[in-house]
Amino acid sequence: MIPIARPDIGPEEVAAVTDVLTSGMIAQGKRVAEFEVRWAEACGVRHAIAVSNGTVALMSVFAGLGLGPGDEVITVSHTFAATANAILYTGATPVFVDIERDTYLIDAARIEAVITPRTRAVVPVHLFGLVADMDMISAIAGRHGLAVVEDACQAHGATYRGRRAGSFGHGAFSLYATKNMTTAEGGLVTTDDDRLADWLRLYRNQGMRTRYAFEMLGYNFRMTDLNAAIGLVQLEKLERNTVRRQAIAAAYDVAFADLPVRVPVTPDGRTHVYHQYTVDVGPARDAILADLREAGVGADVYYPLPVHRQAYIMERGLHADLPVTDAAASRTIALPMFPGLSDGEQAQVIDAVRAAVSRHAGATSVASR
Ligand SMILES: Cc1ncc(COP(=O)(O)O)c(C=O)c1O
Repeated sequence: MIPIARPDIGPEEVAAVTDVLTSGMIAQGKRVAEFEVRWAEACGVRHAIAVSNGTVALMSVFAGLGLGPGDEVITVSHTFAATANAILYTGATPVFVDIERDTYLIDAARIEAVITPRTRAVVPVHLFGLVADMDMISAIAGRHGLAVVEDACQAHGATYRGRRAGSFGHGAFSLYATKNMTTAEGGLVTTDDDRLADWLRLYRNQGMRTRYAFEMLGYNFRMTDLNAAIGLVQLEKLERNTVRRQAIAAAYDVAFADLPVRVPVTPDGRTHVYHQYTVDVGPARDAILADLREAGVGADVYYPLPVHRQAYIMERGLHADLPVTDAAASRTIALPMFPGLSDGEQAQVIDAVRAAVSRHAGATSVASR
């Protein structure tokens, strides 16, 4: 089976981890500090704070902004559940808005309609590697005095009018195994806010600035030097790997141009880093997916059940009417997308998609929507 994702781990990562292991200093230390400096530089922000995963990166920012019960946070349902979970952990309430049909990103034109006196923040998710409409989101947030927290967990290095994901508001990145760069598990917060950065450094380390001087209630959300050593190598490879992802996407675009499917779009002024290559194949999605799997193609669906339809969310009374989100959940397929995908493997994926779509073509027209 051609997998949907495969981490790009080679001898450099092995050597970097071995160095740390044999140094005797394996927990948070100088590799983490170096990784933070390098990531802040890469994103064009003042601070990067490394933590144990993307979920706590998000949650720590929300906690640092002082969110709590009674506060509302506007975000999307078409995302990995961690976006909403991180809001819920603080006691605040996620308020879901629908997405744009073409980009699968928050439909910024719908944000103002759901702002209430309790709204504190907007959380665009740069899903699949494309930055949301940050001009409109920043303008709305500015008008209403809202914080902007970018869920950039899937958007390492993506740009919007030349600026990097994670540099518009406060950013949260995941470094999970299948992400565009990885530390196996890990996360990063980006911010230009000196006070928030200082607070986050204490929060992730039991509230300690110096040993056993506990300034506040904190957690252990530290990253280890083992993880950071991997991350430093991965960061070196990020640009090359992004170019490779973009080349794979371009080849898919060409191969599917004559099919009744809708391939990803990249609005002017943005770069797509293709964490996923997601195709709208229409209402016969499940039959097409089954055929692809049969043909040895590890295609998948992100995400089959939107967050607002999960039982634990509905039990909280968080209802939303999100037809575009529902449509995306029922009509889309993500195809294998990783830098190590060989041309031969990609040809196999393309053949399988063409065959499956043609077989079920009667039901797959996206033009008729
Ligand atoms: C959009 C989004 N948000 C949040 C997360 C959570 O990151 P992590 O799995 O590192 O906790 C992920 C990662 O899977 C994600 O894709």
